Amino acid sequence: MNNIKSYINQHKDRFINELIELLKIPSISADSAYKKDVIATAEAVKTSLENAGCDHVEICDTPGYPIIYGEKIIDSNLPTILVYGHYDVQPPDPLELWDSPPFEPIVKKTTSHPEGAIFARGASDDKGQMFMHVKALEYMTSNNNLPCNVKFMIEGEEEIGSESLSWFVEQHQEKLANDVILISDTGMISNTQPSITTGLRGLSYVEVEVTGPNRDLHSGLYGGAVANPINILTKMIASLHDEDNHITIPRFYDKVENLSAEERVEMAKAPFSLDAYKKSIDIDSEYGEKGYTTNERNSIRPTLDVNGIWGGYIGEGAKTVIASKAYAKISMRLVPHQDWQEITEIFKSHFESIAPKGVKVKVTPHHGGQGYVTPIDSIGYRAAAKAYQEAFGKSPIPQRSGGSIPIVALFEKELKSKTILMGFGLDSDAIHSPNEHFGIFNYLKGIETIPLFYKYFTEMKS
Ligand code: BES
Ligand code: MN
Ligand code: MN
Repeated sequence: MNNIKSYINQHKDRFINELIELLKIPSISADSAYKKDVIATAEAVKTSLENAGCDHVEICDTPGYPIIYGEKIIDSNLPTILVYGHYDVQPPDPLELWDSPPFEPIVKKTTSHPEGAIFARGASDDKGQMFMHVKALEYMTSNNNLPCNVKFMIEGEEEIGSESLSWFVEQHQEKLANDVILISDTGMISNTQPSITTGLRGLSYVEVEVTGPNRDLHSGLYGGAVANPINILTKMIASLHDEDNHITIPRFYDKVENLSAEERVEMAKAPFSLDAYKKSIDIDSEYGEKGYTTNERNSIRPTLDVNGIWGGYIGEGAKTVIASKAYAKISMRLVPHQDWQEITEIFKSHFESIAPKGVKVKVTPHHGGQGYVTPIDSIGYRAAAKAYQEAFGKSPIPQRSGGSIPIVALFEKELKSKTILMGFGLDSDAIHSPNEHFGIFNYLKGIETIPLFYKYFTEMKS
């Protein structure tokens, strides 16, 4: 039997080149100008799954972007793994901050990636990580050692809220029936200390609009005598945190799960250097909710952040004006038990209630989703831990992430199965940011670890 390491060694250049081809297609789901490219990417993913040995692959049309479904069923008595990933990517803006064009992938060596990394939008989130599963399947089918059944479900709307996928999952529970869901769309601690993501935060995303006078006004003639929507909006936003950086919205924390002292001690054992953290993003001090560490602040605690704010004159030079309107986009990251729709409602009524006389406030909810935690005593987790142990020679640490993949909670609800988050990215991959990249080491290690998961999961399940 051809062993996975030698198979990877033999085929790694082709693996890298195939991923590069996929990364060249700008599958930006948020921007309708790229509709053709998003659809072309779905076609390319379909072909890659056929070539990797799936018996049946189809492009499933949805009200939005297509979902690729593929399967290889070898024996209905064996367990079934459902692999989920996404082929859409975030917009690359701001373009001028990229050292090389986002859709012209190049391999470059960096200090954290001495073996080289592929620089392109989607390299780590999620084309590169999704494609590891396609190549792992190729290895298993071409060496006749696929130990169980596998289903693939790759969507094109993850970065815009997975609306079509929710609909698809509700429609096709039987088709998607599985024993475990496997996703590589998160990260790990470092290349020498693997970790398995055991939690994701939920999300509520809203847009707010503050309207003052019915038209823009001369800031001399009217200034001081009317409510300035930008002044008001910034004051309202500032009031959403107190001096300890707690969120001030009534009932916001009501359902937040408080970890026990033991759990917090356990969490603090994960290797983390605050100095390296600060250095990596060039800040002189960390900042956040009083009473919690940096790692707690970005995983087990909920947050409220302004993601964008605009209004008034932002062109060259000075224009003296009081704008009629001001806007902001606000995200709240949520933790287990907080319900995103309830939080959206709580936010809306609070934000409307703090508006002073003289302005009107409108709150428009965007997308959202529930958080997720996965137990570490499940067969899926134990199989994953064993796979990492073997591939990395080191046992993985369970760690909750601050990011969100809202569809995971829906999988559990509709398909009744647990998700294992085997992410191989690093925080330094710059996902959603200019110069996104994915380490060649990480890409190949992922391809090596995945078949081991299949093997141990099947063994432990039988
Ligand atoms: N893959 C990310 C989420 C992620 C990254 C989780 C790293 C954990 C570690 C996913 O593509 C993403 O960007 N999710 C969005 C939410 C979505 C509804 C737009 C997010 O977290 O902002
Ligand atoms: Mn992703
Ligand atoms: Mn993303």
